[in-house]
Amino acid sequence: MDSNVRPDSMKRINTPELAKAFIDEQVEAIKAQVGDKKVLLALSGGVDSSVVAALLIKAIGKQLVCVHVNHGLLRKGEPEQVIEVFRNQMDANLIYVDAVDRFLDKLAGVAEPEKKRKIIGEEFIRVFEEEARKLDDVDFLAQGTIYPDILESDGVKAHHNVGGLPEDIHFEGLVEPVKLLYKDEVRVVGKELGLPDNMVYRQPFPGPGLGVRCTGAITRDRLEAVRESDAILREEFAKAGLQGVVWQYFTAIPDMKSTGIKDGKRYMGWAVVIRAVNTVDAVVVTVPELSMSLLFKIRDRIVKEVPGVNRVLFDMSEKPISTIEWE
Ligand code: XMP
Repeated sequence: MDSNVRPDSMKRINTPELAKAFIDEQVEAIKAQVGDKKVLLALSGGVDSSVVAALLIKAIGKQLVCVHVNHGLLRKGEPEQVIEVFRNQMDANLIYVDAVDRFLDKLAGVAEPEKKRKIIGEEFIRVFEEEARKLDDVDFLAQGTIYPDILESDGVKAHHNVGGLPEDIHFEGLVEPVKLLYKDEVRVVGKELGLPDNMVYRQPFPGPGLGVRCTGAITRDRLEAVRESDAILREEFAKAGLQGVVWQYFTAIPDMKSTGIKDGKRYMGWAVVIRAVNTVDAVVVTVPELSMSLLFKIRDRIVKEVPGVNRVLFDMSEKPISTIEWE
């Protein structure tokens, strides 16, 4: 039987008991596959790679080597949380790579969306390979592949997950313990493994990260404004009880400036776009009705707290015709 096909008999994992049974089964399977050898994992801090990390830590402890690459396009607080949860709380073998300058230098002046995606994806693999090469005794590569990754292919944007397979390193095998699970099942398993809620119930986040929300050529100051405005938006959505209720929400800053007033003078500033969407499959997307008082509060905080911003917009576009991300 093809090991990439989910058997009809497989139960939907939707209770802690079923998650526990799955975890026990996978821990045994991982131990049997890996023995006393080492496994390498690119740990982004997203749900899938985090659950794979937690499963592997449970199965083989320090035989797992996690590599967290900070490409400078992560959301506020993400690298810190990965270090806190995996290194400090779970005592994992975690290598943190600060590759911020390297990525932003490579991306400087590049405006075309797919070119940006390609650079981010390829550079990520290169950084990861370099780390892998430093560890000469790693035999297996673990990946957070989930079932929709196996089923889906999309013709509009290159949705390659950052963290693809390094091409010129030979691994004895792949460890993909959640490859037959759907997203909701991965979350139930993550919860059972003790991962924090804001990791388990995280909204989807694209591999190229904030890079596709800072449209056109990325500049450090505009990227920082995207990161800060996104943090404000997420904080206010969480306070309003919308975390885990609205499917995906974030800010984007298009590569343009518009007129504002500061100290009685013309002031050219950026416009922050608020995007919030609901969907089941990310193919057809609707826009939730949000309270104006919530939007006003977010607007006030963004113009007050984020340097360089003088306008806040709400994106009410559905998919199709718009995509979720701005690039
Ligand atoms: P779009 O913008 O195509 O997005 O409507 C649909 C979903 O996919 C995410 N997305 C990406 N994920 N790499 C990813 O891993 C990408 O390049 C990418 N582009 C979009 C997007 O956040 C949304 O959830």
